[in-house]
Amino acid sequence: MAAGGGAYQWSGARAYEAALLETWSHRDPVELHDLSYLTHYATLAANSHNTQAWRFSLAGTTVSIKPDFTRVTPSADPDDHHLYASLGCAAENLMLAATRQGWAVAGAYAGDAAPAFDIDLTRTGGQQNPLFDAILERQSTRAEYDGEPVEAGLLSALERAAKVEGCEVLLIDDPQQIEQVLDFVLAANTRQVENPAFRRELRSWLRFDGRQAAAARDGLYSACSGNPPLPPLIANAIFDLVFTADAENDKYARQIRSSAGLAVFVSERDDPEHWIAAGRASQRFALEATRQGLRTAFVNQPVEVAELRSQLSAALGLGGRRPDLIMRFGRGPAMPRSLRRPVEAVID
Ligand SMILES: Cc1cc2nc3c(=O)[nH]c(=O)nc-3n(C[C@H](O)[C@H](O)[C@H](O)COP(=O)(O)O)c2cc1C
Repeated sequence: MAAGGGAYQWSGARAYEAALLETWSHRDPVELHDLSYLTHYATLAANSHNTQAWRFSLAGTTVSIKPDFTRVTPSADPDDHHLYASLGCAAENLMLAATRQGWAVAGAYAGDAAPAFDIDLTRTGGQQNPLFDAILERQSTRAEYDGEPVEAGLLSALERAAKVEGCEVLLIDDPQQIEQVLDFVLAANTRQVENPAFRRELRSWLRFDGRQAAAARDGLYSACSGNPPLPPLIANAIFDLVFTADAENDKYARQIRSSAGLAVFVSERDDPEHWIAAGRASQRFALEATRQGLRTAFVNQPVEVAELRSQLSAALGLGGRRPDLIMRFGRGPAMPRSLRRPVEAVID
């Protein structure tokens, strides 16, 4: 039994390791406007459920990142807010990679008629870019952290790095305030876990073993959340038994209480242009945190349940603005990495 389990894990692990090496490696540009090169770094960004709901194209010197509406998650993300925030995360990585190659970048939202984030490239000359260097190291670390606070100077550096026009970041490191937000996370998590549509949708994006993760190269590989790989047939059969509100709430309470603080990203307006800005700010925050030896993970449940989102907005005194994203941060261990589809799958 044990030997069989070992062989099972080993065969899945090999496929996963091979895909991992391909995903998390550096590329060299082979031509001046190298869309493959830029797209590679863009796709290493955080993105909701790892659906990779993005398409990339190049016209002249303008790169466009468009939503892929065949990869939406309507239960967790009914208004596509996270989908646009994920485009923002990818846009930020892409702009950092372009800057590194000597391009000046100017990014703008194209408008709701033909939604896209367009990035104009102008030749300037190579620029040092410390955040670029963290792209390959960043990960969503869904582990318990060490419970230690982060020094004030470092908090200011994170805040500065996350500056993007149209979005503000609110840092919460007071334990009482963290508990207040934790209450919202637990209430929202309970609603989601007890919602059959949410469970169905989440399960469809879970990848239960290395072989399944490597075949899809998208979705949420369970090992990235600290769960042991299991044959998908067995994992599906026991999913309803183990995925309970109590167990999930207990895990989130431990994870949040072990964190140094929370970053709440709040954009000026509640529209796709500003959801993209929130994604960009969160990606910059995570890259700077990574550079400084910190770990980050999103805990977005309270911004995904509309009723609790407005209550959270009031509790944080946001003056009616929408809290876009919530990220916890602190020092902790690395976790297994997620995968990405090859760039050819997302380039038009
Ligand atoms: C808009 C957005 C919302 C997300 N929400 C959550 C969340 O609520 N919980 C979570 O664990 N991860 C969340 N994530 C993280 C993604 O699941 C993660 O980025 C993806 O699986 C890829 O893994 P990586 O960040 O380690 O590269 C979110 C990411 C984005 C961009």
